[in-house]
Amino acid sequence: MCGIVGYVGPNSTIDVLLGGLKRLEYRGYDSAGIAVLTDEGHLGTRKRAGKLGILADDLDEAPLPDGHTGIGHTRWATHGGPTDGNAHPHLGDDGKLALIHNGIIENFAELKQELVDAGASFTSETDTEVAALMVGDVYKKTGDLTTAMQRVVARLEGAFTLLVMHQDVPGVVVGARRNSPLVIGLGDGENFLGSDVAAFVEHTKRAMEIGQDEIVTIRPGSVEVTDFAGNPVPTREFEVAWDATAAEKGGWPSFMKKEISEEPEAVGKTLLGRVHEGAVTLPELDDLTGALTDIDRVVILGCGTAAYAGMLGKYAIETWARIPVDVELSHEFRYRDPVLSERTLVVSVSQSGETMDTLMAVKYAKENGARTLSICNTQGSTIPRESDAVLYTHAGPEVAVASTKAFVAQVTALYLLGLHLAAVRGTLDAAQVAAQLEELQNIPAKLDQVLESTASRIAEFTPWLGDTQSVLFLGRHVGYPVALEGALKLKEVAYIHAEGFAAGELKHGPIALIEPGQIVIVLVPSPRHENTLHPKVVSNIQEIRARGARVIAIAELGDKAVAPFADEVIRIPYAGPLFEPLLGVVPLHIFAMELATAKGLDVDQPRNLAKSVTVE
Ligand code: M6R
Repeated sequence: MCGIVGYVGPNSTIDVLLGGLKRLEYRGYDSAGIAVLTDEGHLGTRKRAGKLGILADDLDEAPLPDGHTGIGHTRWATHGGPTDGNAHPHLGDDGKLALIHNGIIENFAELKQELVDAGASFTSETDTEVAALMVGDVYKKTGDLTTAMQRVVARLEGAFTLLVMHQDVPGVVVGARRNSPLVIGLGDGENFLGSDVAAFVEHTKRAMEIGQDEIVTIRPGSVEVTDFAGNPVPTREFEVAWDATAAEKGGWPSFMKKEISEEPEAVGKTLLGRVHEGAVTLPELDDLTGALTDIDRVVILGCGTAAYAGMLGKYAIETWARIPVDVELSHEFRYRDPVLSERTLVVSVSQSGETMDTLMAVKYAKENGARTLSICNTQGSTIPRESDAVLYTHAGPEVAVASTKAFVAQVTALYLLGLHLAAVRGTLDAAQVAAQLEELQNIPAKLDQVLESTASRIAEFTPWLGDTQSVLFLGRHVGYPVALEGALKLKEVAYIHAEGFAAGELKHGPIALIEPGQIVIVLVPSPRHENTLHPKVVSNIQEIRARGARVIAIAELGDKAVAPFADEVIRIPYAGPLFEPLLGVVPLHIFAMELATAKGLDVDQPRNLAKSVTVE
């Protein structure tokens, strides 16, 4: 959950670190800190509780001497509250060594006791300080920072990325990772380390992956990667597919607003190059080809918004490919002894590719013989590395903590997978696949229409909802995952209690929540769909209206039946049953953002959250 950046090179280290941290702040914003080694061999650190801006202001008021070696950290607190003292870096070797950490060192209490028994004293409540003191102690004995890192990581349990530097070794930063992200940025006479490529994409688009249980030592002119035992390991370079401006606000008031506006593009780019003459082309899945005809079951794993995208994937894959699909929250999956075999395809869905719950579930699935496919938005991240195959979504960098454009890209990728499965298994013929693909290809233009027609309208009516305490979301069939997504978004950015329900479930209990004035947002399926859901959902609206609910309906442009029973109707263009959620979700994203904005909240960095949840 924390953001980590390291730098060695000729440029201003403070500028590189602060620039990198700014792009990584979505990972955590409880505190920030940097350590910089001057050419005169002075190791300076500065760390402050609160968002990065507080550290930056502090450095403006009282500058730290600059240098050419440094590390920086932005924290999402786990052990110890968000205070200056608990902020990273932490020091070892009598203040000559600085270390930063992402993850949790699970055996820290036992290691701390050993250090205390040996006479060490601690200045923070973190698990991290244990690692700083341990690396410092081994460095004192060996005089080699890489060796010190190797010896210490061998004793650590849990998930961690560590970066360390020492005042006696200018121009060197050593990193290590286990189940926590770290990527190398390759420059010209300079090198970088970062939790993800956003940390250095402003300086270089050449990047290199680091595998699990590996150690990297960067110097301005070299990069060495070994396993934890010190043996060299093969590395893989890749080119970052987007540039720095894609991760900037570019004049938008918030990343969330910008990213909602990019939803049409996210769908379009995820389709790009994958549809040819009415057929799906997914060379990424070549390694799984035999497996795809052989599987008898699909399990989709994800958390939060990614899990809701997975639920839509279930509807599509079952409809088109006629394979049973289960969708499960990653953190529940491996603890319930799931039934898996080599005929199970486990599809993980993750924007960041670093969600620890999903990563562990994928590893578990692999260990238990399943085939694994990852649907992911972040190159160089861990979940794709751990999977048999990856289908990248091309939503571009998503910075706001609330996931928006990644959701529609994930649904698009799952739909491509569903149509691919249908084609290879022969459950749809070529013409049927082509017809569905045509619908999918029409979505970006329809999304443009939704944005154009709904954005200002929702902005107009949300202020009168500003003091509302609770909002319910109802949907049926594919509208149900969208209702869950709308409720999640409202909770996380507007801090309003919200629940999503399957509309048919209402009468089984939740209708008791309806009292005069209760706001209910209802996703109404198009009356043109062949299923008979439209009249049923309209009846649900009447039932809650009769009990005093205020209804905001999301309904198709031509639907005349809804308006008499709704207080507000947000219109979306027609789309086939499986495609409607890609349109209906956008007003809900806008609604959450506008309501949060009306309440004066920071929509990009909501309280208590981090974009990438790298702890279990
Ligand atoms: O990076 P991931 O897609 O794996 O993240 C999964 C969830 O943590 C994420 O979707 C979370 O629910 C979002 N903040 C929702 O907006």
